[in-house]
Amino acid sequence: MNGIYPPKEFARQANIRDPTIYSRAHENWVEFWEEFAGELEWFEPWEKFFDDSKAPFFRFFVGGKLNASYNCVDRHAGKKNKIAIIWEGENREKRTYTYYQLFREVNTLANGLKSIGVGKGSRVAIYMPNIPEGIISMLACARIGATHIYIFEGFSAKSAGFRIKDSRAEFLITADGYYRRGNLIDLKEKADRAVEQAGTIKKVVVVKRAGNDVEFDENRDIWYHEILRKGHCEAEILDSNHPLFIMYTSGSTAEPKGVVHSTGGYLVHVYATSKTVLDLREDDIIWTTASLGWITGHSYAVYGPLSIGSTVLIYEGAPDYPDKCRTFDIIEEYGVTVFYTVPTLVRMIQTCDPSEYDISTVRLMGTVGEPIEPETWIWLYREVGRERVPIVNTWWQTETGGHVISQIPSLTPMKPASVGKPLPGFEIAILDDGGKPVKPFEIGNLAIMRPFPGIMLELNGDTRSYVRFYWSRYGKRIYYTGDYAYADEDGHIWIVGRADDVLNISGHRISLTEIEQIAMEIPEIREVSAIGLPDRVKGNVIGIFAVAENPGKETGEKIVKKVENDIGKIARPGLIAFVSELPKTSGKIAKRAIYDAIVGKKRSSYVVNPETLEPLMKLKPSERGIVVL
Ligand code: WT7
Repeated sequence: MNGIYPPKEFARQANIRDPTIYSRAHENWVEFWEEFAGELEWFEPWEKFFDDSKAPFFRFFVGGKLNASYNCVDRHAGKKNKIAIIWEGENREKRTYTYYQLFREVNTLANGLKSIGVGKGSRVAIYMPNIPEGIISMLACARIGATHIYIFEGFSAKSAGFRIKDSRAEFLITADGYYRRGNLIDLKEKADRAVEQAGTIKKVVVVKRAGNDVEFDENRDIWYHEILRKGHCEAEILDSNHPLFIMYTSGSTAEPKGVVHSTGGYLVHVYATSKTVLDLREDDIIWTTASLGWITGHSYAVYGPLSIGSTVLIYEGAPDYPDKCRTFDIIEEYGVTVFYTVPTLVRMIQTCDPSEYDISTVRLMGTVGEPIEPETWIWLYREVGRERVPIVNTWWQTETGGHVISQIPSLTPMKPASVGKPLPGFEIAILDDGGKPVKPFEIGNLAIMRPFPGIMLELNGDTRSYVRFYWSRYGKRIYYTGDYAYADEDGHIWIVGRADDVLNISGHRISLTEIEQIAMEIPEIREVSAIGLPDRVKGNVIGIFAVAENPGKETGEKIVKKVENDIGKIARPGLIAFVSELPKTSGKIAKRAIYDAIVGKKRSSYVVNPETLEPLMKLKPSERGIVVL
């Protein structure tokens, strides 16, 4: 098999050393998963590993009873000298929590939440920056059986309001403010607007993080430190399929979808992959650079690593602030052993000289969320890892809960930019539109041929979309991922991109339909099309092409402002081009034609006149902005 074989030094010490793990899982997937499940603590064993009688609503570990918070905290609390969380604030403040301290904090917050009416089945929104209270809030909810809905702190009030309302959350845990690139962000003010918009929230719990002045509604708001109640809070005995959390993500429609995850299946999946793919052990310090508010933060900064008993590092601020190489500073200072990040961040730090830092503690690196191009991969492998640190490129989705395709770093050869092979316990195929497997190197639809423990339970309140998006194209037992991919001669998978109108920016999913709808709400806009444009650092930026009544800077800025207001800064367009006409084929806007015109590809097959876009072909990425043609 082609590829770079894992460094021997690494392979010798790895959790998984037996290559038959692939074939064993293939021959007996029940035993494979049950073995990992057996390493967690169950209050009552499951009766049935897998129930597909109500396909496509799959249930795992049926009848089993457990608690995720108990598995992540109580199990390790006995080791009183063991650090669970290392936190670094943007202003270089530092805090650590031992597992015992975390255990106490989770208990006191769980008691506090109960005292304001949170209980089993409650829905609690968490709108918080990367601070330890974010993790403690998740685990406190999990402890009492409340389902948490974590909202990325960078989302606008409007985005947060939508998520709160859609999930029918009655409680919100937020913070007064936080720091980002030297600015104090007034989060409470955004939270207040979100709460007002949603109209479902009864109580708002506020962490005092930044000490900024905030408005306080005495009937509704309460300080986090004032609700804490000392003493033990019994971990609720929960059904394996009790919803642990809902995570919103973008789909091909304008509205984000609430992906609901289970307790048992999800925890087994993230525990198993933390062990096999991230090779985590108790003596590791893992830094997953994602915000807690994304699925990567949930699975590999909280539930996976803590269920193993590792130390997690979380950082509040921007990875390149105040110094563009802060990332290496942090790795060096704490002796990070596993570094899990997005390609965008790797591209950002590529101007740094890693040899100026002692980062020799790093023994494994991982990337996620977007394709990594070979040059970036090779830089990471050579300059950061010094050719002794394996890199796992992990493919998965919010919907899958945890890794699906990747490498087992001690066993699977690495091919720069490939996402590796289906992990043991997963059956993958690349299918044509009719459902037939395509040949090696032929591009097709990436499909997962059999359900697996971390698969979502459903979409919140939207059975129709759940069935239609994921379980219709190839029937109700084959999961349609929405990605194009191909396999090579060794069965390694290469991701080509999304098949739907979803764009990946810095590893975050943005719906182009949502952007178009936002722009269309501006009265001056007559027609609009949003596409992804290649960007050297972020992978993609949003390009908006619009026909408007009064094209120009003013209208362009209206679009920028509205997108920032309705979604957040992450969706800020890189180019807004006003055109007199959009290329169309049979009445539909031909996105491909726009894309080709911008990136400089000429195609003759378009019926309409992409000439109108020709001036854009000469546009350098640095000259993007608001352009009128
Ligand atoms: C989409 C899922 C997985 C957690 C973070 C993103 C893309 C994911 C990779 C990868 C190329 C990737 C896919 C997928 N994607 N991992 N290693 N290489 N593309 O989760 O927001 O649900 O996005 O991200 O297109 O469908 P998400």
